Amino acid sequence: MFRSILRNQQKISLRTLATQATEKAPRIKKFQIYRWNPDTPQEQPQMKTYEIDLNKCGPMVLDALLKIKNEEDATLTFRRSCREGICGSCAMNIGGKNTLACLCRIDQDTAKETKVYPLPHMFVVRDLVPDLTHFYKQYKSIEPYLQREDHPADGRENLQSIADRAKLDGLYECILCACCSTSCPSYWWNQQQYLGPAVLMQAYRWLIDSRDQATAQRKAMLQNSMSLYRCHTIMNCARTCPKGLNPGKAIAEIKKQMAFD
Ligand code: SF4
Ligand code: SF4
Ligand code: FES
Repeated sequence: MFRSILRNQQKISLRTLATQATEKAPRIKKFQIYRWNPDTPQEQPQMKTYEIDLNKCGPMVLDALLKIKNEEDATLTFRRSCREGICGSCAMNIGGKNTLACLCRIDQDTAKETKVYPLPHMFVVRDLVPDLTHFYKQYKSIEPYLQREDHPADGRENLQSIADRAKLDGLYECILCACCSTSCPSYWWNQQQYLGPAVLMQAYRWLIDSRDQATAQRKAMLQNSMSLYRCHTIMNCARTCPKGLNPGKAIAEIKKQMAFD
């Protein structure tokens, strides 16, 4: 009886030793995160540092933010929904680049701190949440929906050839995250009048849709010095787009179309 208790104890302590041996040394990574609370407007925005053990965190920056919020500081505020690059809500500036937190891998170099800010040159609602009211107002202004005088009889679809449908590739995938517009210097300085790359790319998407009949009105809306022509082909937009799209090219195509009118 006594011998069997002893044997069990030996087994348990061997198991504990084995677990300790396989447990990895912590890999502590520092995140510096922009904080601002509208309830205390007299306080300046500040960068707050959080430490995370990368062995206990998922691989993406959104995983780190969720871990901080769940385990360290429930007041940290950011938007997210799909966590797979579809909804566009987790757009922010990470390590100096506008991107989606859910698609951005954590830099595994623990010697380097990762800085996280809200999208640049936007009003801030709180912490990492930018105010996108104006951005969506601009999107609405281009009337981003199919416009036709005539509709097929008996409620059938508006058909499109395979070749015409293919023209929309590289445009329809935009998730309106605003990473491109908020990386565009022209948009920073002329945001009230210049539509910016994200909205202009959607304007182009409707301009070249073979089913749409509002092409003339759509072009007329862009025919002024500010809405479209503030783009100077700096191409920050294409460099930063987390979906690999090229709004700068779409803008150049609109300019080409307008030139031949
Ligand atoms: S073009 Fe890219 S960066 Fe710009 S809004 Fe669309 S998905 Fe975001
Ligand atoms: S190409 Fe045009 S829209 Fe894109 S970043 Fe440059 S100025 Fe802005
Ligand atoms: S959470 Fe939806 S795009 Fe990141």
